[in-house]
Amino acid sequence: MIRIGALVSGGGTNLQAVIDNINEGKINGSLVSVVSNKENAYALERAAKYGIESTVIRVKDYPDRKAYSEALIKHFKEKQADLILLAGFMVILDPVFTDAFPNMIMNIHPALIPSFCGEGFYGLHVHEAALKKGVKVTGATVHFVDGKADNGPIILQKAVEVKDDDTAEVLQKRVMEEAEWIIYPKAVALFAEGRLKVEGNKVIRL
Ligand code: GRF
Repeated sequence: MIRIGALVSGGGTNLQAVIDNINEGKINGSLVSVVSNKENAYALERAAKYGIESTVIRVKDYPDRKAYSEALIKHFKEKQADLILLAGFMVILDPVFTDAFPNMIMNIHPALIPSFCGEGFYGLHVHEAALKKGVKVTGATVHFVDGKADNGPIILQKAVEVKDDDTAEVLQKRVMEEAEWIIYPKAVALFAEGRLKVEGNKVIRL
């Protein structure tokens, strides 16, 4: 059984999807620590509801991003995390963090990478950009995290239809329901079963 850590900043619906899949026996793992950079993140309440240990580690309590990232490394090493999930975590970490956990950090991005990703593409901005471009299909991507934003090896992607009358909010909700909440727990389950092998840029499903 793998030990899973999570970093959150907000609502935590993806965290909830992982919790549900663990509780349904679909993921051979347990959540050992949920860390938020914000004390009022609703994701913390979700963790509490299921008796999952959580803690707040705030950026402003550290002199710089590197020191903050080092505090997170220390925390997850202490928790002996095998996998760390970025689940709506809004802080850009120093590369020391990704270097400390190679192919052990996952992120979910609400678009089909390499579209609508990278710096500035977060939250509703992603869906606004997709609508502005007029794409007919968008989706979500789970990937391993490396030193660059939305750049690491892609694990799973799922497409979602864009409708003519979509607003960014409506599209965001559809992408979550039809893609994010499905592929994030699935990627975690595959990792927990040892079925993900990274070869260069590619993830091979064993
Ligand atoms: C999701 O859209 C996810 O793709 C992105 O941040 C959002 C987090 O939402 N990385 P939630 O906190 O999981 O509800």
